[in-house]
Amino acid sequence: MSSQQEQTLVLVKPDGVRRNLIGEVLARIERKGYVVTGLKLVEAERELLEKHYEEHVGKPFFEPLLEFMMSGPIVAARVEGHGVVEGFRSLAGATNPTTAAPGTIRGDLGRDWGAKVIENIVHGSDSVDSAERELAIWFG
Ligand code: PPS
Repeated sequence: MSSQQEQTLVLVKPDGVRRNLIGEVLARIERKGYVVTGLKLVEAERELLEKHYEEHVGKPFFEPLLEFMMSGPIVAARVEGHGVVEGFRSLAGATNPTTAAPGTIRGDLGRDWGAKVIENIVHGSDSVDSAERELAIWFG
């Protein structure tokens, strides 16, 4: 990688996989010009998810979030490109899909289905440091 080249972790969460949105999410990433350099389907175990979401331990949504993330397979992707960490967050849109802007993944494809936790189709690392930490967890 060149010095400005970044990597980020993208997850298609169980709701996205159940709704057959894997291709749609990857297509948006590729159409933007980013490159998928790692890809796998994972049935995530609690231990891995506790590490991934360690900053949220103790929050009221933590347990329901883990249950949701264990409710079906997840697609984990390593994505590369200049500014990709911020760029993918922008493609994904705001956390709450009800109010996420149209044109974003969550704004176009997500909504509130009355679930216990926010089901918002994708995860993207929130900083270069988080990306490095999360990629080590999911890709070793
Ligand atoms: S917060 O409120 O600042 O702690 O939230 P944030 O840093 O955006 O990330 C929280 C992750 O948990 C998921 N999630 C929820 N967040 C807040 N409230 C509720 N009810 C909730 N349910 C689930 C949210 O999507 C973030 O996960 P990722 O995987 O990063 O999208």
